[in-house]
This record gives sequence, C-alpha cells and structure tokens, in this order.
Amino acid sequence: MNVIFMGPPGAGKGTQAESIVNEFQIPHISTGDAFRLAMKQGTALGLEAKKYVDQGLLVSDEITIGIVKERLQLPDCKSGFLLDGFPRTIEQAEALDKIMDSLGSSIDHVINLHVDRSLLLARLTGRRICRSCGATYHVLFNPPHTENVCDKCSGELYQRSDDTEEKVGTRLDEYLNKTAPLLSYYRNKGNLREVNGEQEIGTVAAQISLLLRGQAK
Ligand code: AP5
Ligand code: MG
Ligand code: ZN
Repeated sequence: MNVIFMGPPGAGKGTQAESIVNEFQIPHISTGDAFRLAMKQGTALGLEAKKYVDQGLLVSDEITIGIVKERLQLPDCKSGFLLDGFPRTIEQAEALDKIMDSLGSSIDHVINLHVDRSLLLARLTGRRICRSCGATYHVLFNPPHTENVCDKCSGELYQRSDDTEEKVGTRLDEYLNKTAPLLSYYRNKGNLREVNGEQEIGTVAAQISLLLRGQAK
C-alpha cells in the first residue's frame, strides 16, 4: 500500500504517521525528517537544506526529488510506504508519478488532513519532539506524562528551530502558494481523500485507518 499524507504545517502528518506505519508495517518517509537528520550530521546535503529549512522555505525540487527517488528504490518500500511531506509542488508530484511508473507501481491513497489556519500556529509553537526516538508531543494538546521527557523512551524533548511564530508564517505561505494547488492535481486523479484533522488525535487515526482499509466512504 503506497500512501501520501498531505496537509499544511502542523496538520498532524507526523503524529498520524506514527500509528499508521505501525499498523500497516510500512516505512515512514518524511522529507522534513531527512533534511533535519542531514542538518544535524552536517553533511553537504544538510548544509544546503539548512539555508531553506531555517527560513521556512521549501528546499529545491531537484534536491528533494533526488532524495525520495533514492529512498523509494530501497527494498523495504516494495510492500508499501507512507510519504509524509512529499510531494509539495506540482513538479515533485509529476516526478513521483515517473518514479512510480519506473518501479511498476502507483500511489493508492492520498490523505489530506484539513486543519484551519487559525489552529496551526498554536499547534506548531507548542510542539515538542523527542531527541532520541522522534515522537511528537504538544505542551497542551498532547503533553508527555513528565514535562520534557518522552513517554516512550525517556528521551529529552526539544523544539524545532522553524516552529517560531515568524517561521510558521513563512511556512504557511509556502504551503498556500506551492502545495495547496496539488490538491486538485490528486483530486483530478481520483485518489484524494479528505480527513478532518481538527478532531482528536485518536479519532483522526481511526478514520485514516478505515479509509486505508477501504471500509469508509
Ligand atoms: P516538515 O518537517 O515536513 O514540516 P511541515 O510540513 O511544516 O509539517 P510539520 O512537520 O510541521 O507538521 P505535521 O503535519 O507533521 O504536524 P505534527 O504531526 O508534528 O518540513 C520541514 C521543512 O523541510 C520544510 O519547511 C522545508 O524547508 C523542508 N521540506 C520538507 N519536505 C519538503 C519538500 N517535499 N520539498 C521541499 N522542501 C521540503 O503536529 C503538529 C503539532 O500538533 C504537534 O505538537 C502535535 O502533537 C499536535 N497535534 C497533531 N495532531 C493533533 C490533533 N488532532 N489535535 C491536537 N493537536 C494535534
Ligand atoms: Mg511533520
Ligand atoms: Zn522518545
């Protein structure tokens, strides 16, 4: 099963990915996570990505497509994958179609998490992430049992450098200008499914699970 999660920054793509990849036993491919890892390691890719990520701007299509192309060819993607945060431009979507063609495969589901812009700022500025296992929390909406400590692995929680009010504004503008047009691209193909991402985390997860199992409208 090949799945794409779409939605604005803070819609809950990463949060929902945690349970869905567990349930369906497929790899979670997040371009944002890949860039952050490269930035932490200080590789050439990381240094280049940092110029954009730190400003809340999209990394170039050429670099991003290259990473995904390489990743989708790995053997663990043969039985399916979950793409989180890719594609984000029409050019990336067209490149993905070509990659899937060359692999003799196709995208089965595009899940769009809809969340009103007014909620996104609060979600992003309150987000905390585990340094060790990457689990996502929110200081108000999904707090860990102990402040700043991961429930799953006791790792330390941190705040992403692009989760400031100013960067969030730029990220939302990038989304509206470059990524939102992709919704009609997938709607026209007939595999776009809308989920209300403003509901409780568990409710959203249950609805996505039903859609992927083909048991919901
Ligand atoms: P990326 O890491 O993908 O960031 P993003 O798209 O901005 O999305 P987020 O990760 O911020 O949000 P999310 O939807 O995963 O929300 P989450 O589940 O964490 O990309 C970062 C950067 O990398 C980009 O800006 C760009 O520079 C670069 N990049 C990445 N991909 C690229 C591409 N394809 N092309 C070019 N550049 C690219 O949830 C957010 C918060 O809300 C959390 O605190 C969570 O606990 C809380 N929450 C989640 N669900 C709920 C709920 N139902 N109710 C209440 N709270 C909730
Ligand atoms: Mg994310
Ligand atoms: Zn952890």
